Amino acid sequence: MADNDSNKDASDYGFGVPVKKYPFFLKGLDHMDWGMKDRLSRIFNAKSGHTVMLAFDHGYIMGPTSGLERMDISMPPLIEYADCIMCTRGALRSIVPPTSNKPVSLRYSAGTTVLGELNDECILDIEDAIRVNASALAVMVAIGGKFEAKTIVNLTRTADLGNKYGIPTLGVTAVGKELARDARYLGLACRVCAENGATFVKTYYCEKDFARVAAACPVPIVIAGGKKLPENEALELAYKALQEGASGVDMGRNVFQAENPVAMIQAIRAVVHDKRTPKEALDLYRSLFQ
Ligand code: 5RP
Repeated sequence: MADNDSNKDASDYGFGVPVKKYPFFLKGLDHMDWGMKDRLSRIFNAKSGHTVMLAFDHGYIMGPTSGLERMDISMPPLIEYADCIMCTRGALRSIVPPTSNKPVSLRYSAGTTVLGELNDECILDIEDAIRVNASALAVMVAIGGKFEAKTIVNLTRTADLGNKYGIPTLGVTAVGKELARDARYLGLACRVCAENGATFVKTYYCEKDFARVAAACPVPIVIAGGKKLPENEALELAYKALQEGASGVDMGRNVFQAENPVAMIQAIRAVVHDKRTPKEALDLYRSLFQ
């Protein structure tokens, strides 16, 4: 055997050198399995510890909203600048080029639309999530709503499946018209998601005491952008959320409904990854128009 003939005696055992350890960079997730950490490291940038997720799953409840009429035209130029995309399996298969090679936070729960009562949802087949190489499973959780228990069951089942296959679960805190978006409510909703097995949580920013929401959530939080704001205010929102403990954004309308969406996602990146102030990011946004 060639191997035996040329085998060099192993001698470099590093006696006295402590075994190398690689602490994980995301809070509360040190004890996750390797596959889970691998996928999380594709979603979050290990250098900044943050992520810019691009959400365009709105159609599954709202239909063709502004900016998403022709996703095949509007989304690919933005996907290039996202760390992770959040979309349905329908959008993924029909308009996302597989060569974009971006981690996917797959919209994993579905059921009702704006025409009915929201959040009466089921979850998809885990095999289909694996088939499309999902890096996270995003599940709606409607704390305090009519379908609270059903959505928590969806979350726990998703977390069980995610743990089985090494896929993170993103608990998405839904906010109904009747529910306040204050720190007390959001703190409770995020905590319930984390305690029931969400690997990370998506919620909304609130002006008062968001730092408390983030501090009391034992896993990373990303914030949704919500309704379209003027660009300077959206950048301010991202900045304040990051300053107060969010680990990133999962924004949709404030990117794809901006006057210049490609410039906007780059300005958001400057806030999230490069610690730019809202003013610096707005200057960048304007400069990218030319
Ligand atoms: C819908 C969602 C959306 O992905 C979320 O609301 C993010 O989009 P936007 O920034 O437009 O609010 O989770 O259920």
